[in-house]
Amino acid sequence: MSYIKTAIGLKCHDWSSVELLKDLSPEVIIGNKEDIKYRQKHFWHDMSSEFDSKHFLIYLLKRKDLKLSDEFLEFVCLWHLDEQNHYRGLRKINSVLYGQSEELIEHQLKSRKPDFDPIEAFLTDEFTILLSIAFDEITSTRAYKQDFELFDSLGPSCLSTWIRNAAKDEAAHYGNAIKILKLRHQPRLKEAPAVLESILAHETSQTFTYNNTFIFDHDTDDFSHDLLRHSKSTIIDILERHQ
Ligand SMILES: [Fe+2]
Ligand SMILES: [Fe+2]
Repeated sequence: MSYIKTAIGLKCHDWSSVELLKDLSPEVIIGNKEDIKYRQKHFWHDMSSEFDSKHFLIYLLKRKDLKLSDEFLEFVCLWHLDEQNHYRGLRKINSVLYGQSEELIEHQLKSRKPDFDPIEAFLTDEFTILLSIAFDEITSTRAYKQDFELFDSLGPSCLSTWIRNAAKDEAAHYGNAIKILKLRHQPRLKEAPAVLESILAHETSQTFTYNNTFIFDHDTDDFSHDLLRHSKSTIIDILERHQ
């Protein structure tokens, strides 16, 4: 459904991870134990990145030099609600799959500290921030789609629903970012290929690391260089049609 409160019809799907996963427990998991063990670091990575959305929101709002449009502010409010909903879902899933309490997980994540310095060059103004978010969100959408089979193999249908809902949200974030780029930044769209090329170079460089910033978190083998290149070309194609 479209979120009718916003002036420009930003998309937002209304659902709750806590509600959806309320009956999830270790007893109902039927997946292959070895596969589940192998995926532990991926589940932890995805959960902590979703948690880190809080760091990114606080960072953006603290940046006094940014002139953020009303549309952008509405966008990040919706975006943050979704990402924290994803975090709570993955916290429950991690707890059920790996036998750690949600309280202990929360306690561990609270000590994470973000470092935005290495990526500040990509976050110079609303235009480059939206491009960075669009790149991140289209990549998240496709990475979560890669996980459909794994989630289905775990047994409970609520997990199949959860991963599809999360992918749908990431696609909505991508679509919303593109919408604001077209609406507010039309004169600068020709700069997009160069910005995206530098993002791709950063994420595929040998020295690339993720520093708890939410954005640019593609440092596991879930995110192949082909996947990242595909994200770049998708955005360039869609923006070219509007120049
Ligand atoms: Fe998310
Ligand atoms: Fe997202």
